[in-house]
Amino acid sequence: MKKIRNFCIIAHIDHGKSTLADRLLEYTKTVDARAMKAQVLDSMDLEQERGITIKSHAIQMMYTLNGQEYILNLIDTPGHVDFSYEVSRSIAACEGALLIIDSTQGIQAQTISNLYLAIDHDLEIIPILNKMDLDNAMPEIVEDQIIGLIGCKRTDIIRASGKTGLGIEEILERIVNDIPEPKGIEDAPLQALIFDSVFNPFRGVIAYLKVENGILRKGDQVKFVNASKEYVVDEVGALKLGMFERSELKAGSVGYIICGIKTAREVKVGDTVTHSKAPCEKAIDGFEEVKPMVFAGVYPIDSEDYEDLRAAMEKLQLNDASLTYEPESSAALGFGFRCGFLGLLHMEIVQERLDREYDMNVITTVPNVLYHVHTTRGETINVYNPSGLPATTTIDDIDEPFIRANIITASDFIGPIMTLCLDKRGTLLKQDYLTTDRVEMVFDLPLGEIVFDFYDKLKSISKGYASFDYHMLDFRPAKLVRLDILLNGEMVDALSTLIHFNNAYSFGKRMCEKLKELIPRQQFDIAIQAAIGAKIISRETVKAVRKDVTAKCYGGDITRKRKLLEKQKKGKKRMKQVGNVEVPQNAFLAVLKLD
Ligand code: GTP
Repeated sequence: MKKIRNFCIIAHIDHGKSTLADRLLEYTKTVDARAMKAQVLDSMDLEQERGITIKSHAIQMMYTLNGQEYILNLIDTPGHVDFSYEVSRSIAACEGALLIIDSTQGIQAQTISNLYLAIDHDLEIIPILNKMDLDNAMPEIVEDQIIGLIGCKRTDIIRASGKTGLGIEEILERIVNDIPEPKGIEDAPLQALIFDSVFNPFRGVIAYLKVENGILRKGDQVKFVNASKEYVVDEVGALKLGMFERSELKAGSVGYIICGIKTAREVKVGDTVTHSKAPCEKAIDGFEEVKPMVFAGVYPIDSEDYEDLRAAMEKLQLNDASLTYEPESSAALGFGFRCGFLGLLHMEIVQERLDREYDMNVITTVPNVLYHVHTTRGETINVYNPSGLPATTTIDDIDEPFIRANIITASDFIGPIMTLCLDKRGTLLKQDYLTTDRVEMVFDLPLGEIVFDFYDKLKSISKGYASFDYHMLDFRPAKLVRLDILLNGEMVDALSTLIHFNNAYSFGKRMCEKLKELIPRQQFDIAIQAAIGAKIISRETVKAVRKDVTAKCYGGDITRKRKLLEKQKKGKKRMKQVGNVEVPQNAFLAVLKLD
């Protein structure tokens, strides 16, 4: 009988999770050393290029210790906050976790937030100091941090390197010796946890799951409990480097299931699979419907591409269930879509995939969060877009989403970070010293203040030495107003923002100044105004210029003139005509660039 160990790797971004996983796969001969390309687990092109793991994956390794054969299921997890729900589900499928910490960096925000998730699920934690091959490794200092955090012994911490292979054998032995066997019962009703899914254009949705109890067989009639849908199982199998079909998956096993499901939305990470005829008593705990929290308009640059953009969105959504979109129109930008994303990184990824995979050139408007607006008639409206805000006279109050942020920094930067967070309407809840010079700060902050430029600012004021992670808290009342921008008296809907009343004046002023920089001089004066309702709060003017681009080469040769005109035409293509004013694309993101 082979014994099973299910484990995941948790770490802050870039601490070397994928590289270490590669070494484990190599050592257990799961992949041929020759076939081994760096970071085999990151299979999406985009993942390889960006060097980050977007979707988590699972892989099975065989390992023998003292004559006993073990199946080790490694569940890889994404490291970024936008995908933290996936981390939490992957963790729920394991009995143990390798906690990897870069020995040159020490504990960071996601190290802690992922560790808390693992502790919540009672996982056995194996602490690992990675990148020990580097000259600037500080093993003793980082060990002190780890001991302070999880209360282990110094000798419990494995010193390793994903680069040289140091510590790999010890890690495998500890996985076998320290991590408990899965506790499932084979002859109980089927109960399996979906912890991830991918979309395959030929096979439909492939869901990755862990069978907690019972046995899942090919041909079974199954039910997805939270989605309340039933299917017949076409195929089940194990995940190695690729899928290996099996006749059944028993309690404790990790593998995949295919039921010919054609859209990613039908399969929800965190859902429970059971038999239709003899269902389990209740679904596995902790299921959450992931909801987009950040919204932005996505518009084709060339309005003729609208239908192509719709087709691209449909296809993207087939394999990215967390992306939402619905048609929207803007007086300034024409027809497009209002899209919902998990966070800013997710938004960036979608934009990049539209460009790369579908060759779509789009303008993305300033992102905003979801607001709950309570009207005087006692209704609650979800507002995804500043232009969706009802008339001020009908608003009772507005609630905005709040997050709890974990920031870890060197103590030198406490002052500036405090100023930044207070400026963003944050409140400090806790300030703990991890070691004499490293501090954990916990703030409650409005999500709407984070989506603009918080992360960039945090990085720059801390010279890169602060890390940040967050989770959603709740909705809280806020005094918000809509700030509009007018160009020559015409409101540009795509530039409207919802902003806290106290910040509206200075924000409006800075917006006008920034737009003045970004909008080129044209043949007439352009008035740039910021307004709250009918009240103008700021104004700038772009002075007229008569720009005769060919004047300089008067009498010169005609091809040179043509080239110049061509160049000007190209420049125009990247402009949007708003009323009689030509506005460059980057002006629509001006708010992200305010100082
Ligand atoms: P995400 O998937 O984005 O969360 O990152 P990750 O934690 O998987 O980190 P990854 O394995 O991609 O490594 C990040 C960087 O550190 C890469 O440039 C690796 O080459 C490098 N790296 C990883 N492990 C080691 C190590 O042990 N020593 C040295 N010198 N570099 C390493």
